[in-house]
Amino acid sequence: MIILGIETSCDETSAAILRNGKLLSNVIYSQLDIHKIYGGVVPEIAAREHLVKLPYVINEALSIAKVNYNDIDAIAVTYGPGLVGSLIVGICYAKGISFGLKKKIIGINHLEAHLLSPFLEYDDFNFPFLGIVVSGGHTNVYLADKFGEYRLLSETRDDAAGEAFDKVAKLLNLGYPGGPAISRAAQQGDAQKITFPQSQMKDKSYDFSFSGLKTSVLYYLKNHSEDIKNGKITINDIAASFQKTVSRTIVNKIKRICKEYKVERIALTGGVAANSYLRHELQRFGDEKGIKIYIPSMALCTDNAAMVAYVGWLKASKKIYSDFTLEAEPGLKL
Ligand code: KG4
Ligand code: ZN
Repeated sequence: MIILGIETSCDETSAAILRNGKLLSNVIYSQLDIHKIYGGVVPEIAAREHLVKLPYVINEALSIAKVNYNDIDAIAVTYGPGLVGSLIVGICYAKGISFGLKKKIIGINHLEAHLLSPFLEYDDFNFPFLGIVVSGGHTNVYLADKFGEYRLLSETRDDAAGEAFDKVAKLLNLGYPGGPAISRAAQQGDAQKITFPQSQMKDKSYDFSFSGLKTSVLYYLKNHSEDIKNGKITINDIAASFQKTVSRTIVNKIKRICKEYKVERIALTGGVAANSYLRHELQRFGDEKGIKIYIPSMALCTDNAAMVAYVGWLKASKKIYSDFTLEAEPGLKL
């Protein structure tokens, strides 16, 4: 079975071809350079750019996979969560192919695609697992019991982890997107210089909150302008200390969850999973406890159509299809 995956939920235009669960191509066109000058994604521009680039991206994915439109069995397309205009472009394109060539269409939840992305690269990855989805819009932790059965244990009450990286990078004048910029700066900084507070929930929940940390960085900059001017503290030190705090906050929560639930495998996915400090901290915990850690390679952490095609294949195998009533759901949950 050959699946064409389409991903246009935010600012990456991506298409992938999967044959019987095996990835043949995964083409990603990033709009980064266009949005960078605005300091963040401009939804209207993102949608228009998807419209222009998607046909080329799909053609390239087909050509790399040596597959043509007629060979495709089904089209898997992200229908939420994401930017409504961007989602609509992918969905309409998928519907067009589906109608024109009489192919099945499958709506995919972007969060489920991230959550299951380790299946693409690890032969020994399997259910049940503890799945962490850390992206620009989400900081969700799930107990994934089996395909389609996910228990949400934890989410963010305000900013998502990636959002915190993006906002703090702005405060530090490191540019957009914040995650990679902070990662780079942190490599030259001393993470021990500053201790930012790790937010704790008043109740016993496993939820996250990152907006207080962002405010702490803001006040730190205000209150230590002299130290920063005379070089006692550098922006790199602040970036490194912030990155450490976010990573420890996430890993500490995972440690608490692992005390309550029996966990044998942990999957770290989503754009923030590209952060090497966080990857390292989680791996250290896994090694300590004998829990196997699964983290996709960088290209499969940030948005891509391979993960969309993969969930499409799982759904198609169970004959779970959508129809032309499929619509964009910007606030879709998992
Ligand atoms: O999964 P993703 O590509 O898109 C969403 O579904 O949101 O995640 C994008 C987020 C952005 O906030 C970006 O700053 C963050 O992932 N990110 C990183 C790194 N690379 C991307 N955050 C921390 N460290 C990184 N190396
Ligand atoms: Zn994503």
